[in-house]
Amino acid sequence: MITGEAFHGSDIEKIEEVYGIPKEDIVSFSANVSPMGVSERYLQGITSKLDCVERYPDREYRALKKAISLYCGAKSENIIVGGGSTELIGAAIKQMESPRVIIVTPAYSEYERNVKQRGGTVEHFFLKEEDGFAPDISEICEALNESHDILIICNPVNPTSTAFTRDGMEAVLKRCEKCGIVCIVDETYIDFADERFDVTPLTDRFGCLFVIRSMSKFFCAPGLRLGYGITQGAELKERIEESKDPWSVSSLSNEAALLMLSDTDHIGRTRAYIKEERQRIMSLLDDMEPLGIRYYRPEANFVLVRLPEGGPTSGGLFERAVKEGMMIRDCADFPGLDDRYIRFCFMKKDDDDRLMSLIRKVYS
Ligand SMILES: Cc1ncc(COP(=O)(O)O)c(C=O)c1O
Repeated sequence: MITGEAFHGSDIEKIEEVYGIPKEDIVSFSANVSPMGVSERYLQGITSKLDCVERYPDREYRALKKAISLYCGAKSENIIVGGGSTELIGAAIKQMESPRVIIVTPAYSEYERNVKQRGGTVEHFFLKEEDGFAPDISEICEALNESHDILIICNPVNPTSTAFTRDGMEAVLKRCEKCGIVCIVDETYIDFADERFDVTPLTDRFGCLFVIRSMSKFFCAPGLRLGYGITQGAELKERIEESKDPWSVSSLSNEAALLMLSDTDHIGRTRAYIKEERQRIMSLLDDMEPLGIRYYRPEANFVLVRLPEGGPTSGGLFERAVKEGMMIRDCADFPGLDDRYIRFCFMKKDDDDRLMSLIRKVYS
């Protein structure tokens, strides 16, 4: 059955409806959420905090910003909190009327949707397959000029899992500063990546930089709807704050995040597991090279894979996988990619092995 339906990474209920498979029986390799579950400290601590919903959260979220500051090293006064990184992406784009935006592509679709909603225009800067989708810093700098209002970069990039180093971003930011461009860096997946890709320290030096982060993926808490943004630009911060609603983070999410951010054991375990599993999946994919399967060096908790010509397309593999209870991301609808690309995130070893043997079987 080819349904012709397009599924986003988190559309597990839609899969249940279309394929009649109970969602509990589907492993989501497409939502890019950590397989390590939610923090133990949170599970144990939250029950004594449940009555916090009787009060409004602190309008300034002082304790939460302090905890975020301790976690990521940014200054408390430079932090904005929001309902998932999604709210902050929207606010960072909506703070400008009809913005002219350049997006490093392929990219998460919400950027373009928000720009269009705001009556803005989108230009794509395409990462190239022949470069392994690695960013070419001098080409990006050359593409930027005074006609752009906003540059959006996802780092590590969703869906390619390639990344900009801090040094590379420094050059991009110098160019942005010169051209009067606001640079939004979506670091939703940064907690899984090596420290040298983290651009948060650059917020102390570049007022045109707005970094966005999320509790959804690394902390396995997409239901919390909590994200945060960091900028030193006082005016930019004010405009972004004004574009969002007050109290968009609930008292319960506030308390939950305090517990999660202080669970250093869980944080350390998640980091170590993903690092090891990323390496293991890379070597399993290396073994499939003779089948014509190619991948791009992943820096986050997911990998982009190119399927061999002549075999089933990304949609075909998606169907095969879903029938075996595994939901991968068919990347055919990403600008810059086509029906030869799939993306999947690293889950528990047994589940990953099941997916790897299916791919091997389908293309052997
Ligand atoms: C690159 C990127 N940014 C932001 C988000 C949204 O995250 P949140 O749950 O924090 O709104 C996603 C979700 O898939 C994503 O892939």
